Amino acid sequence: MVNFLIFGPPGSGKGTQSVKLAQKFNLVHLSTGDMLRAEIAGGTELGKKMSSIMAKGELVPDEVVIEMIAAKIDSAKNTAGFLFDGFPRTVEQTKELEKMLGKRKMKIDMMLVLDVDHDELVKRLISRAELSGRPDDKDPSVIENRISVYRSKTEPIINYCQEKGLYQPVNGVGSIDDIFERLSDKIKHFA
Ligand code: AP5
Ligand code: MG
Repeated sequence: MVNFLIFGPPGSGKGTQSVKLAQKFNLVHLSTGDMLRAEIAGGTELGKKMSSIMAKGELVPDEVVIEMIAAKIDSAKNTAGFLFDGFPRTVEQTKELEKMLGKRKMKIDMMLVLDVDHDELVKRLISRAELSGRPDDKDPSVIENRISVYRSKTEPIINYCQEKGLYQPVNGVGSIDDIFERLSDKIKHFA
Protein backbone atom coordinates (compact mmCIF):
# COMPACT_ATOMS: atom_id res chain seq x y z
CA MET A 1 0.00 0.00 0.00
CA VAL A 2 1.19 3.50 -0.82
CA ASN A 3 -0.20 6.58 0.84
CA PHE A 4 -0.13 10.12 -0.45
CA LEU A 5 -1.08 13.45 1.04
CA ILE A 6 -2.42 15.94 -1.48
CA PHE A 7 -1.78 19.24 0.10
CA GLY A 8 -2.25 22.94 -0.59
CA PRO A 9 -4.35 25.97 0.31
CA PRO A 10 -8.11 26.22 -0.30
CA GLY A 11 -8.72 26.41 -4.04
CA SER A 12 -5.37 24.90 -4.99
CA GLY A 13 -7.08 22.00 -6.79
CA LYS A 14 -6.77 19.18 -4.24
CA GLY A 15 -10.27 17.84 -4.83
CA THR A 16 -10.17 18.24 -8.62
CA GLN A 17 -6.87 16.39 -8.95
CA SER A 18 -7.66 13.75 -6.31
CA VAL A 19 -10.64 12.41 -8.20
CA LYS A 20 -8.51 11.90 -11.34
CA LEU A 21 -5.50 10.48 -9.48
CA ALA A 22 -7.59 8.05 -7.44
CA GLN A 23 -9.07 6.64 -10.62
CA LYS A 24 -5.76 6.39 -12.47
CA PHE A 25 -3.78 4.76 -9.65
CA ASN A 26 -6.57 2.79 -7.91
CA LEU A 27 -6.30 4.83 -4.72
CA VAL A 28 -9.05 5.51 -2.20
CA HIS A 29 -9.68 9.26 -2.09
CA LEU A 30 -10.37 10.45 1.46
CA SER A 31 -11.47 14.08 1.79
CA THR A 32 -12.42 15.18 5.29
CA GLY A 33 -14.11 18.27 3.79
CA ASP A 34 -16.38 16.02 1.68
CA MET A 35 -17.08 13.76 4.67
CA LEU A 36 -18.05 16.74 6.82
CA ARG A 37 -20.28 18.19 4.09
CA ALA A 38 -21.98 14.78 3.79
CA GLU A 39 -22.71 14.91 7.55
CA ILE A 40 -24.26 18.36 7.10
CA ALA A 41 -26.28 17.27 4.08
CA GLY A 42 -27.49 14.22 6.02
CA GLY A 43 -28.64 16.44 8.90
CA THR A 44 -26.70 14.41 11.48
CA GLU A 45 -25.95 15.70 14.99
CA LEU A 46 -22.26 15.92 14.09
CA GLY A 47 -23.09 17.86 10.91
CA LYS A 48 -25.21 20.33 12.87
CA LYS A 49 -22.37 20.93 15.32
CA MET A 50 -19.71 21.36 12.64
CA SER A 51 -21.59 23.51 10.12
CA SER A 52 -21.11 26.85 11.89
CA ILE A 53 -17.37 26.23 12.33
CA MET A 54 -17.00 25.39 8.64
CA ALA A 55 -19.11 28.34 7.52
CA LYS A 56 -16.60 30.62 9.28
CA GLY A 57 -13.65 28.89 7.63
CA GLU A 58 -12.22 27.63 10.92
CA LEU A 59 -10.96 24.09 11.50
CA VAL A 60 -13.19 21.54 13.20
CA PRO A 61 -11.65 19.76 16.24
CA ASP A 62 -8.82 17.34 15.45
CA GLU A 63 -10.57 14.37 17.12
CA VAL A 64 -13.62 14.69 14.84
CA VAL A 65 -11.64 14.23 11.62
CA ILE A 66 -9.25 11.66 13.09
CA GLU A 67 -12.19 9.43 13.99
CA MET A 68 -13.69 9.82 10.51
CA ILE A 69 -10.44 8.89 8.80
CA ALA A 70 -9.79 5.86 11.03
CA ALA A 71 -13.22 4.42 10.16
CA LYS A 72 -12.59 4.89 6.43
CA ILE A 73 -9.14 3.30 6.50
CA ASP A 74 -10.54 0.19 8.11
CA SER A 75 -13.43 -0.15 5.69
CA ALA A 76 -11.39 0.21 2.47
CA LYS A 77 -10.88 -2.92 0.41
CA ASN A 78 -8.88 -3.83 -2.72
CA THR A 79 -6.99 -0.60 -2.96
CA ALA A 80 -3.41 0.26 -3.90
CA GLY A 81 -3.39 2.88 -1.15
CA PHE A 82 -4.91 6.11 0.10
CA LEU A 83 -4.94 9.67 -1.14
CA PHE A 84 -5.58 12.03 1.76
CA ASP A 85 -7.14 15.35 0.65
CA GLY A 86 -7.55 18.17 3.17
CA PHE A 87 -6.30 15.91 5.96
CA PRO A 88 -4.09 16.28 7.94
CA ARG A 89 -4.66 19.98 8.63
CA THR A 90 -2.56 20.38 11.80
CA VAL A 91 0.73 18.87 12.96
CA GLU A 92 -1.29 17.05 15.64
CA GLN A 93 -3.48 15.42 12.95
CA THR A 94 -0.31 14.44 11.07
CA LYS A 95 1.12 12.66 14.11
CA GLU A 96 -2.19 10.87 14.67
CA LEU A 97 -2.29 9.79 11.03
CA GLU A 98 1.24 8.41 11.33
CA LYS A 99 0.20 6.42 14.41
CA MET A 100 -2.93 5.14 12.67
CA LEU A 101 -0.99 4.03 9.61
CA GLY A 102 1.84 2.61 11.72
CA LYS A 103 -0.55 0.31 13.59
CA ARG A 104 -1.61 -1.06 10.21
CA LYS A 105 1.99 -1.45 8.95
CA MET A 106 1.71 1.55 6.62
CA LYS A 107 3.20 5.03 6.44
CA ILE A 108 2.89 8.33 4.59
CA ASP A 109 4.92 7.79 1.41
CA MET A 110 4.76 11.24 -0.16
CA MET A 111 3.35 14.71 0.36
CA LEU A 112 2.36 16.43 -2.89
CA VAL A 113 2.01 20.16 -2.34
CA LEU A 114 0.11 22.22 -4.93
CA ASP A 115 1.69 25.62 -5.17
CA VAL A 116 -0.79 28.35 -6.23
CA ASP A 117 -0.52 32.10 -5.62
CA HIS A 118 -3.01 33.95 -3.43
CA ASP A 119 -4.79 35.89 -6.19
CA GLU A 120 -5.41 32.76 -8.24
CA LEU A 121 -6.84 30.95 -5.17
CA VAL A 122 -9.28 33.76 -4.48
CA LYS A 123 -10.25 33.99 -8.14
CA ARG A 124 -11.01 30.24 -8.32
CA LEU A 125 -13.06 30.18 -5.12
CA ILE A 126 -15.06 33.28 -6.00
CA SER A 127 -15.95 31.81 -9.36
CA ARG A 128 -16.85 28.48 -7.75
CA ALA A 129 -19.18 30.27 -5.30
CA GLU A 130 -21.82 30.51 -8.03
CA LEU A 131 -21.93 26.75 -8.53
CA SER A 132 -20.76 24.99 -5.38
CA GLY A 133 -23.45 25.97 -2.91
CA ARG A 134 -20.70 25.94 -0.30
CA PRO A 135 -21.38 28.60 2.34
CA ASP A 136 -17.61 28.99 2.83
CA ASP A 137 -17.20 30.09 -0.83
CA LYS A 138 -19.89 32.76 -0.71
CA ASP A 139 -18.23 35.37 1.49
CA PRO A 140 -14.82 36.77 0.40
CA SER A 141 -13.84 37.37 4.06
CA VAL A 142 -14.40 33.66 4.79
CA ILE A 143 -12.23 32.75 1.79
CA GLU A 144 -9.48 34.99 3.21
CA ASN A 145 -9.90 33.40 6.63
CA ARG A 146 -9.58 29.88 5.17
CA ILE A 147 -6.35 30.90 3.48
CA SER A 148 -5.00 32.49 6.63
CA VAL A 149 -5.93 29.45 8.77
CA TYR A 150 -4.06 27.35 6.20
CA ARG A 151 -0.95 29.54 6.54
CA SER A 152 -0.94 29.50 10.34
CA LYS A 153 -2.19 26.01 11.28
CA THR A 154 -1.72 23.78 8.24
CA GLU A 155 1.41 24.98 6.45
CA PRO A 156 3.71 24.00 9.37
CA ILE A 157 3.05 20.38 8.31
CA ILE A 158 5.25 21.09 5.27
CA ASN A 159 8.34 21.56 7.46
CA TYR A 160 7.43 18.50 9.49
CA CYS A 161 7.17 16.35 6.34
CA GLN A 162 10.17 17.98 4.66
CA GLU A 163 12.37 16.81 7.52
CA LYS A 164 11.18 13.28 6.80
CA GLY A 165 12.00 13.60 3.09
CA LEU A 166 8.35 13.40 2.02
CA TYR A 167 7.87 16.88 0.56
CA GLN A 168 7.27 17.16 -3.21
CA PRO A 169 6.19 20.59 -4.46
CA VAL A 170 4.15 20.77 -7.67
CA ASN A 171 3.28 23.86 -9.68
CA GLY A 172 -0.50 24.10 -9.26
CA VAL A 173 -1.06 26.82 -11.87
CA GLY A 174 -1.94 25.87 -15.44
CA SER A 175 -4.51 23.62 -17.05
CA ILE A 176 -6.10 20.83 -15.00
CA ASP A 177 -4.62 18.27 -17.40
CA ASP A 178 -1.09 19.70 -17.18
CA ILE A 179 -1.20 19.66 -13.38
CA PHE A 180 -2.55 16.11 -13.46
CA GLU A 181 0.49 15.09 -15.57
CA ARG A 182 2.87 16.77 -13.09
CA LEU A 183 1.28 14.91 -10.16
CA SER A 184 1.09 11.61 -12.04
CA ASP A 185 4.81 11.83 -12.82
CA LYS A 186 5.58 11.94 -9.09
CA ILE A 187 3.11 9.19 -8.12
CA LYS A 188 4.02 6.72 -10.83
CA HIS A 189 7.38 5.98 -9.19
CA PHE A 190 5.48 4.41 -6.29
CA ALA A 191 2.18 3.10 -7.62
P1 AP5 B 1 -12.10 21.41 2.44
O1 AP5 B 1 -13.29 20.79 1.84
O2 AP5 B 1 -10.87 20.59 2.57
O3 AP5 B 1 -11.85 22.74 1.64
P2 AP5 B 1 -10.57 23.66 1.38
O4 AP5 B 1 -9.28 23.25 1.92
O5 AP5 B 1 -11.04 25.01 1.74
O6 AP5 B 1 -10.31 23.49 -0.13
P3 AP5 B 1 -11.28 23.43 -1.32
O7 AP5 B 1 -12.01 22.15 -1.31
O8 AP5 B 1 -12.08 24.69 -1.37
O9 AP5 B 1 -10.22 23.52 -2.51
P4 AP5 B 1 -9.40 22.37 -3.25
O10 AP5 B 1 -7.96 22.54 -2.99
O11 AP5 B 1 -10.00 21.04 -3.04
O12 AP5 B 1 -9.65 22.86 -4.73
P5 AP5 B 1 -10.73 22.34 -5.79
O13 AP5 B 1 -10.20 21.19 -6.53
O14 AP5 B 1 -12.07 22.25 -5.17
O15 AP5 B 1 -12.46 21.95 3.89
C1 AP5 B 1 -13.63 22.72 4.14
C2 AP5 B 1 -13.77 22.98 5.63
O16 AP5 B 1 -13.98 21.74 6.32
C3 AP5 B 1 -12.56 23.59 6.33
O17 AP5 B 1 -12.54 25.00 6.22
C4 AP5 B 1 -12.76 23.10 7.77
O18 AP5 B 1 -13.75 23.87 8.42
C5 AP5 B 1 -13.30 21.71 7.56
N1 AP5 B 1 -12.25 20.68 7.52
C6 AP5 B 1 -12.00 19.84 6.45
N2 AP5 B 1 -10.99 19.00 6.73
C7 AP5 B 1 -10.58 19.31 7.99
C8 AP5 B 1 -9.56 18.81 8.83
N3 AP5 B 1 -8.75 17.81 8.44
N4 AP5 B 1 -9.41 19.36 10.06
C9 AP5 B 1 -10.21 20.34 10.48
N5 AP5 B 1 -11.19 20.90 9.73
C10 AP5 B 1 -11.39 20.36 8.49
O19 AP5 B 1 -10.70 23.58 -6.82
C11 AP5 B 1 -11.23 24.84 -6.44
C12 AP5 B 1 -11.91 25.49 -7.68
O20 AP5 B 1 -10.90 25.77 -8.65
C13 AP5 B 1 -12.91 24.57 -8.37
O21 AP5 B 1 -13.97 25.35 -8.84
C14 AP5 B 1 -12.12 23.98 -9.54
O22 AP5 B 1 -12.95 23.65 -10.62
C15 AP5 B 1 -11.16 25.11 -9.86
N6 AP5 B 1 -9.87 24.62 -10.39
C16 AP5 B 1 -9.19 23.51 -10.00
N7 AP5 B 1 -8.03 23.39 -10.68
C17 AP5 B 1 -7.98 24.47 -11.50
C18 AP5 B 1 -7.03 24.93 -12.45
N8 AP5 B 1 -5.91 24.24 -12.69
N9 AP5 B 1 -7.26 26.06 -13.10
C19 AP5 B 1 -8.41 26.78 -12.86
N10 AP5 B 1 -9.37 26.40 -11.97
C20 AP5 B 1 -9.15 25.27 -11.30
MG1 MG C 1 -11.46 20.27 -1.73
